[in-house]
Amino acid sequence: MKICVIGTGYVGLPTGVGLAELGNEVTCVDKIESKIADLNNGKLTIFEDGLEELFIRNRQNGRLKFTLFMNEAVREADIVMLAVGTPPNPETKEADMKYIYAAAKELAPYLQGYTVICVKSTVPVGTGDQVEKIIHQENPTADFDVISLPEFLREGFAIHDFFNPDRIVVGTNSARAKKIIEKLYEPFASKTKILFVNRRSSETIKYASNAFLSMKIHYINEMADFCEKSGADIYEVAQGLGADNRIGPRFLNPGPGYGGFCFPKDTNAMAYMARQFGAELSLVEATIRGNEKRRQRMADKIYALAQDIPCPKIAVLGAAFKGGTDDCRESPAIEIMAHLLKHNLQIALFDPEAMDNARKILGERVTYCANAYEAVKDADILAVLTEWNEFQNLDLAHIRTLMRGHQIADLRHILNRAQALALGFEIYSPGIKQH
Ligand code: UGA
Repeated sequence: MKICVIGTGYVGLPTGVGLAELGNEVTCVDKIESKIADLNNGKLTIFEDGLEELFIRNRQNGRLKFTLFMNEAVREADIVMLAVGTPPNPETKEADMKYIYAAAKELAPYLQGYTVICVKSTVPVGTGDQVEKIIHQENPTADFDVISLPEFLREGFAIHDFFNPDRIVVGTNSARAKKIIEKLYEPFASKTKILFVNRRSSETIKYASNAFLSMKIHYINEMADFCEKSGADIYEVAQGLGADNRIGPRFLNPGPGYGGFCFPKDTNAMAYMARQFGAELSLVEATIRGNEKRRQRMADKIYALAQDIPCPKIAVLGAAFKGGTDDCRESPAIEIMAHLLKHNLQIALFDPEAMDNARKILGERVTYCANAYEAVKDADILAVLTEWNEFQNLDLAHIRTLMRGHQIADLRHILNRAQALALGFEIYSPGIKQH
């Protein structure tokens, strides 16, 4: 099939590449000239595990193209996917729909033949109706259906998730659109549940999923606080909890709170929507408040370790909002560092992928290091803020000899705790009582 993907960000690009790998002819459109120039020169604009190989292959075989212009791509397309951003309004936190509506308006005149317009971006309930209205107004004779096709990809695992979806949710009542989407996802049909629901349900499923996962993280973080006071171990508690099939073991890792461009934005947007509809979402509201406070509290914990040390130097491992990505948007690590900088602490930072993005936010107030060992040299405190797998394999004995101090705040519980204690480190992790 011929597919036009509008928007080449963390959703659009992996989706476009994945669809090309499935054998479709995909054209990705973006308004940012430098992005399209890079992509056309074979340079990826985001870091995503496994993306590069598929990107190179599908560009070479001609199934994946990039352009600044919608006209031809939309005209030829059987399916147009809207994957543009829906950033939060800084004041109300509602999702800002200007890019979606602008894209709908711009693509409308080019529609030719029956086209399915899929809204992939996370959008407020009722957006499908609006997009439909805009396209009708702009092009009254166009033959199309607007469907909701929410994206459930995780950053850092986008390619894995694209090829191994838990479920595919499709919001449409149109039999014509259903047939085309069934054909598109035929390669997954034998192993994945494809759920056809009405458009508003589909739009809600996306928000309800992200809000639920955010709530699960907030819950385990509160349990971690409880365990610190009660003397229980949160990891044993999470194991016991997660062994119940009804609860499930995933998303029960305590830490500095959830971050990224999705959970904070989507929980806020959902709360805003609920207020507009006059519905009460007290759990979502509590989750948002709890998560916001958590970053400051984690920074305070680290600061408390530094209090008696003159001119303390902190080695920070991790700047991305989670492991496996270079994305620092709404990163708890960045916010914690910003709090620590207010106390004039020196920070030496290392992140395997997110150094450039961290520098864009924190500037020269932080020392950027080539690796973890350079960061810990002469540090009083080591703070691990992002769950990069490679931090699991750090040589702690070597780190002990390089550091000036012996305190660790491992907010992701990623280091070998028993080994660290045996080496004489004092180590704080959320949910484990310090003795
Ligand atoms: C999230 C959802 O998981 C995806 O299904 C969804 O498609 C995406 O948002 C989106 O709406 O686009 P993502 O933001 O990439 O994906 O990140 P997650 O892996 O879900 O992690 C979010 C945050 O929660 C991270 O800061 C992570 O460190 C934190 N987290 C996650 C925890 O603190 N504990 C956990 O147990 C799990």
